[in-house]
Formats: sequence, structure tokens, C-alpha cells
Amino acid sequence: MKYTEALRLTQPIHHARLRPRGALFVTMQSTTRLAFFMSSKLALAAIQSIAKSQAPHLRARAILRLAIIPSLGLWCAAALSAPAGPQQNVLSRPGMTLNGKWHVIVDPYENGYYDYRREPFDAAAAPRGGYFLDRKPADRSDLVEYDFDTSPTLMVPGDWNSQEDRLFYYEGSVWYRRTFHYTPSSPNRRVFVHFGAANYQADVYLNGQKLGRHVGGFTPFAFEITTLLKASNNSLVVKVDNTRHADAVPTVNTDWWNYGGLTRDVTLVETPALFIRDYQVQLAKNSPGRIAARVQLDGATAPVKVTLSIAGAGVSASAMSDAEGAATFNLDARKLKLWSPENPQLYGVSLTAGEDRIEDRIGFRRIAVRGNDILLNDRSVFLRGISLHEENPLRGGRAYSVEDARLLLGWAKELGCNFVRLAHYPHNEHMARIADELGLMLWEEVPVYWTIQWENPQTLANAKTQLTELITRDRNRASVVVWSVANETPVSEPRTRFLKELVDTVRALDATRLVSAAMEVHPDPADPNHRIVDDPFGAYTDLLSFNQYVGWYDGLPDKLPQIRWSLGYQKPVVISEFGADALQGFHADRLTRFSEEYQEDLYRQTIAMLKRIPQWRGTTPWILVDFRSPRRPLPHVQDGWNRKGLIGENGMKKKAFFVLKDFYDSIEKSSDTLPPKRP
Ligand code: GCU
Repeated sequence: MKYTEALRLTQPIHHARLRPRGALFVTMQSTTRLAFFMSSKLALAAIQSIAKSQAPHLRARAILRLAIIPSLGLWCAAALSAPAGPQQNVLSRPGMTLNGKWHVIVDPYENGYYDYRREPFDAAAAPRGGYFLDRKPADRSDLVEYDFDTSPTLMVPGDWNSQEDRLFYYEGSVWYRRTFHYTPSSPNRRVFVHFGAANYQADVYLNGQKLGRHVGGFTPFAFEITTLLKASNNSLVVKVDNTRHADAVPTVNTDWWNYGGLTRDVTLVETPALFIRDYQVQLAKNSPGRIAARVQLDGATAPVKVTLSIAGAGVSASAMSDAEGAATFNLDARKLKLWSPENPQLYGVSLTAGEDRIEDRIGFRRIAVRGNDILLNDRSVFLRGISLHEENPLRGGRAYSVEDARLLLGWAKELGCNFVRLAHYPHNEHMARIADELGLMLWEEVPVYWTIQWENPQTLANAKTQLTELITRDRNRASVVVWSVANETPVSEPRTRFLKELVDTVRALDATRLVSAAMEVHPDPADPNHRIVDDPFGAYTDLLSFNQYVGWYDGLPDKLPQIRWSLGYQKPVVISEFGADALQGFHADRLTRFSEEYQEDLYRQTIAMLKRIPQWRGTTPWILVDFRSPRRPLPHVQDGWNRKGLIGENGMKKKAFFVLKDFYDSIEKSSDTLPPKRP
């Protein structure tokens, strides 16, 4: 079943159960924070009581409390750490979409969240205020100073900046409210509310009860609502806050628009009591011809029979789940045709466990490095790439739909690409699934961008969570070949330590893909034409990928023929960015900045320079299409757009588009047309 058909098949179903008041479920990141907070508060109380208490039995109890605190904190973290709900192919599950018009209240002073003493309303056992209560006046004398029903609306999915002129520059909190009727298809079903993403921090409430908080603007999260659902008139309220913070990921300074809101699909998802929460079905890393699969169940209280079948590949097997609810498979893969850009072969994979059944479309391929080569299915490949922001310039605003993905990735295919860098944060899931279908390899990245707080443990935990949520979501996408943990981060010991931790996180979660980052180049004070790449972080990555802007931020294009490189590692080189701004339709001589001719010349001369790097195995020039940036004010030229696109925001191609296309067409003809390999 094509992914888009699966999407259309979500149908409404019926039933509801309530959850005790005040039960708070927070997402992974804030779980650790919660556990830490709880244990430190208790620790403090214990120490104070020891100091105060002279009576021996009170002193003994205080010491006992001190002993249990750390374990309590950890249990909390562990108990609450499993992400809620199904993690894979969520939109193919039965349920109901909540996309559409939502009533909103713009709340720059967070008046709906804090009382006038700046105490959060939702921290109270019996909250008396707060927009999440979605209250109506009980009678004509009852004072209620907000009303969602008569408030304006915004479309979900969608950012608020491109929907409302008055919100174009808005950074702060907006309250979203959606009412809905929903009854599960049978009593023992579980129901989750799933968000594709919300930028940046989301506090979620159902029927006046806090479900939890998610931090991070580009990854999915969900909450179980089985016990909180009412048969009708459920009130789902989400406070979305896109305020930038120095300790956040990304931090306060970025070269992209800080679109706020419920930027991706919101869906009610239904499962049986026992369901398949997560799975990875891929070729085994070190045993050619084998499939390694792992299936994680949720709600299993005893071993359960799990089946895995791959239609068209003669693969069908079953295994019993273990005490942790996990089942593993190691299967013969010799009948599989491997996925590649030339032949993006996808297979129908079905998994069953108990009453639960999930279908997915998965491609099987191997990606590896050997010396200076990148190997796709054991054959050296050149990554003909382009970088891309998650924005649909024609409609304006964040891209979020299948159609947006087809538009943007369709342009990349037209350019002759077999590779796309999704910068600088996780794009929506539709991108990876359409890339699977179109045969485009992907570089996916987390927004560890420029000057992050390297020594802040919460910032590190935040980055790890975003990475974990991304890898969990896309681990079955054949198109995804590189996980990138950072972009243009200044070299320092704390920074390299921070990034190394992220690499370890990636390798622990997924050993089947390459890991990298967009590193930096530094000049040689002794030689103006000498460029050096010896970032210490390069020791931990599979690729030597770096951004270079010789000819734009670093001199003029005529400098390019003189440039010589010293590369600190014998690894495949991928130039993760190069480029120049050009206003589409502005024509002048090749030395006039912002003209198409300048950009065209820079591309020509850069490609010629890069061909002189023996280890060069790919590139993702900056960037496919112009994108919005608050850092680009130049009137009548930039007007709030970064103009380094090869396509203007009007969809018109610039001259440099064809320079790159010709280059890619020339190398595709010379290398990529061999028949697909067997595993
Ligand atoms: C940087 C950065 C991009 C930015 C680009 C530019 O290299 O990684 O996010 O947009 O340069 O300056 O255009």
C-alpha cells in the first residue's frame, strides 16, 4: 500500500476511559529533569530534618529517606522514559486526524499559564486558572477573561508566522484548542494523541488535565489519553512557545526563520492493549545476506508470538518476545533486491503481535565507508547532493505535507541529485518516506548549530533526546544514510566532548548508518591560499564533511583556482555547503554580487576546485531554494530571504542550477548505471 493511501485510511472509532487527576506525564527529556528535581527537593528536606531533629527515631527516618532518594529518581526516569505510543509508521494506524482549524489565543505575557505571582496554574493540585481549563462562565456573574470558541483560528499543521501577518515576527506563546468527539473501536483499545512536531516547547492538556511537556521543535511526541477520553466534547489544549533561549537546541542565533506553532500533523492513534511500539528491520551490519530485525512490544506481560513477513521476498518468520517485550529476528535476505537511487526498491513488511498488526514499506541497502570511498551496496558512490530547509517557498512557511515533500524532492531529482542534506534540524517524516520512494539518499541533522552551551548538561540531554527521537522515527528509512550531529560549531574541548557524546548516542541507537557533522575550515596565516581541515572532532566521524565559502564570504570566485587544501583525515570528503546569494532575475557581470552570473561563476569555479581534492566523494551545495531568514535584511535584494537558492522563492531556476545539473548529469552517466546488486 503506497504511503499516501495509508494516510487516507485513518477512520474515526469509538470508546473512552479516565486517568486519575494530577497524573503528569512528561516527555523523555523532562523526565530526567523531573526525576532530578524530585530527588534534589527530597534530598534537601532530608538534610534539613536531620539538622532539626534531635529525637533518634526521627533522625533514623531522615537517614533512610536519604538512602532511597537516588534510586527513586532513577526509577522515575526509567518508568517514564519509554516514549509513549507507537513510534513507527504512526500515521498508518487506525485513528483520527485532528488537523484543521484550531482556535488560538496569542499570549505574549503567558497570562494563561502563570498567575500574577508568576506561579504556573498547572502546578496547583486543583488549578483555579489557566487557559488549559478551557472554561466557560458558569453564569452571568462568573468572571472568565478568555474564550476559545470566539477566538481566531489557525490551520494545523502550519506555522503561525506565515498564516497571519501580525504574527510574522511573533516569538512567544500561542494557545491552541481543538474539541473533538472520539470513541475507540472497542473497550480494550488504547488511544494516544500524537504530534509530528511543535516548535519549540509544547505543554499539552486534555479536558483540563496536564498530559505533559515536550521540548524540541522538530521531532515527534505523543501522550496516552486512554483513561482521559470522554465520549464527546473533548478539549485538547496545547500551549506552544517558540521563544529562543541560550541553553536551548538550537540556541538564540540561527540563519533560518523561527516558525512557531503546531507545525506538523496532529493525530489520535489507536492500538490494542498490547501493541508493537517500535521496530527496526534492516540488513544486518556485519553479516551480508542477513536481515536483522528487532520488535519492541508495549503492554506485554508474558512472552508473545511476533511474526515478520516481507512480501515478495519470501520472508516469513515468527519469534517469541522476551521479558522486556522484545523479539529479535535474523533472517535470510538473499531474495531481496537492494534499494538504491537508480532502483528505489521498497518491500511491504508486515508485523503482527497479539491483536496488533502494522504494515510498512521498507527498502534494504548497505551504506559504509572504506578508506576514502563511500560504499552503497558495496559499490563506491558519489553523493550528488543539495542542501534544503523545510520550507515551501511557493506557499510560504514550514513545509509539512506529502505534497511539499514531492515538490522539494522533485526539484532535487530534476537537478540530478541522488542525495539531499535536510538542514539543520529533523524535517517531517513525509520527506524521508518520499525520499525512499524517489530514490534519494538523505543526510538528517539535529539543530546543534553554531554556539550551543557545550557545558550545560541540560542542553546536552536536550540534544540527545532530539537525536534519539529522530533516529527512532526514521530508523527504517533506506533513504537515510547519514546522521549529522552538528553544523559549524566552534572548535573547543567542551564542544568536542559534547559532540562525541552525540556520536556515541547515535552509534548506540543505530550502527548501520554513517555519522558526521558539518565541520569548519580554517585559513593558514602563513599562506592566504591554503585551507586546513583538522577539526579534532573529525576523528569520530565516518565522513570528513565541512562547509566552505571561498568566493563568497572568503574573497571572490577567482580565488578558487589558487586554493589548496590540507585535510587532517583520510576519509571520504563531503562538502556540506558552498554557495553564493543571487536574486533570481537579476543579471549583471560575474563580479556583481547578488547577480545570477556571480553565482553561476562561483559554482563553475568551485566544482573545478573540488575536483582537485582526491578524496572528494560528494557535496550538498547551499542551497536548493531561497529561504526566509531574519538575518538577511538587504532591501530589494534579500528582503528577509537568504538568496543562496538555485531556485528563487517564486520557483524560478537560476543559471547556477544548470551548472550543477550539467555536472551531476556528467558524473551520473559515467558511474551509476550498473544493474542493482544482490545482498
Ligand atoms: C552557514 C550556515 C547556514 C547559512 C549559510 C549562509 O554556513 O550553515 O545555515 O544559511 O552559511 O550563510 O548562507
